[in-house]
Amino acid sequence: MPTFPSVAVLGAGTMGSGIAQLCAQAGSTVFLFDAFPDALKRAPQKIEKDLAKGVELGKLSKEQAKVIVDLIKPINLLDECKSADLIIEAASESLEVKVELFSQLDDRVGHDCILSTNTSSLSVTQIAAKTKYPHRVCGFHFFNPATRMRLVEVVAAHQTDKSVIERIVAYAIELEKTPVVTKDTPGFIVNRVARPYYGEALRALGEGLADHMTIDRIMREGGGFKMGPFELMDLIGIDINFAATSSVWEAYFRDSRYRPHLIQKQMVDAGFLGKKSGRGFYDYSAEGK
Ligand SMILES: NC(=O)c1ccc[n+]([C@@H]2O[C@H](COP(=O)([O-])OP(=O)(O)OC[C@H]3O[C@@H](n4cnc5c(N)ncnc54)[C@H](O)[C@@H]3O)[C@@H](O)[C@H]2O)c1
Repeated sequence: MPTFPSVAVLGAGTMGSGIAQLCAQAGSTVFLFDAFPDALKRAPQKIEKDLAKGVELGKLSKEQAKVIVDLIKPINLLDECKSADLIIEAASESLEVKVELFSQLDDRVGHDCILSTNTSSLSVTQIAAKTKYPHRVCGFHFFNPATRMRLVEVVAAHQTDKSVIERIVAYAIELEKTPVVTKDTPGFIVNRVARPYYGEALRALGEGLADHMTIDRIMREGGGFKMGPFELMDLIGIDINFAATSSVWEAYFRDSRYRPHLIQKQMVDAGFLGKKSGRGFYDYSAEGK
């Protein structure tokens, strides 16, 4: 029996669908919620496609894939997640959105339910402070793609109870992840260290040092990185990456080391969000979403 037999994932986008799949793979029943019906329709299709690939590669049987799919229950109303033991919020990177969602959960879920957020950069302490029982709120930060990246950051807000962190760490291990416990600082560990990777690449592009393909190639072939900064921004989602940079910059009192770049803002304004929208720094229209 998993540490959390019943999990609700809020937000069925890039991260939420992967996290839902992971939790179901560990044997949890997963309620999957999204404010937008389209996202809720797309997520199970994406999960089934990923599992079918696993079957093809001999990683799991058809029957096992079916059991996982059956454990995932898309829900249209938050009320339907009231029996969850753990909430993993993976909605858009906006403090307002997250605070609003958490405040709606206070009286809907049981008192023992842990409320976690997959935020990349927002203050978990601030989110917790807006709830009735802040001691049960923490960060549970997965990386993209959630099903494949081993690392997770378990973020202790100022108010988080130690037992909450211990249970999340135990569950992360059941999900076959490597949990790292971190304090609640802007960007935590990974996103703080990664900010200059994107920021300097955007500044280099803006100054005309080289085009984005050349910068990516140099970082891969010369720097030994698995992905160049522009490929990575496209994978993450340019809107999500821009929001993360902006919030780390704000949180560090507008320290110029983290200043966002106009190129990224313009791409967000244009709807060029990366892989998920079919176009970012690269063109994905031929791949389908
Ligand atoms: N993309 C990444 O690489 C990455 C990595 C780690 C963490 N994160 C974090 O995960 C979270 C989600 O990011 P994503 O990349 O999956 O974004 P996404 O845009 O792919 O998905 C966000 C989903 O949230 C839904 N949503 C918006 N408001 C909602 C609400 N009120 N209730 C329920 N659902 C709502 C949207 O419809 C969308 O389906 C963000 O906090 C982000 O910072 C993202």
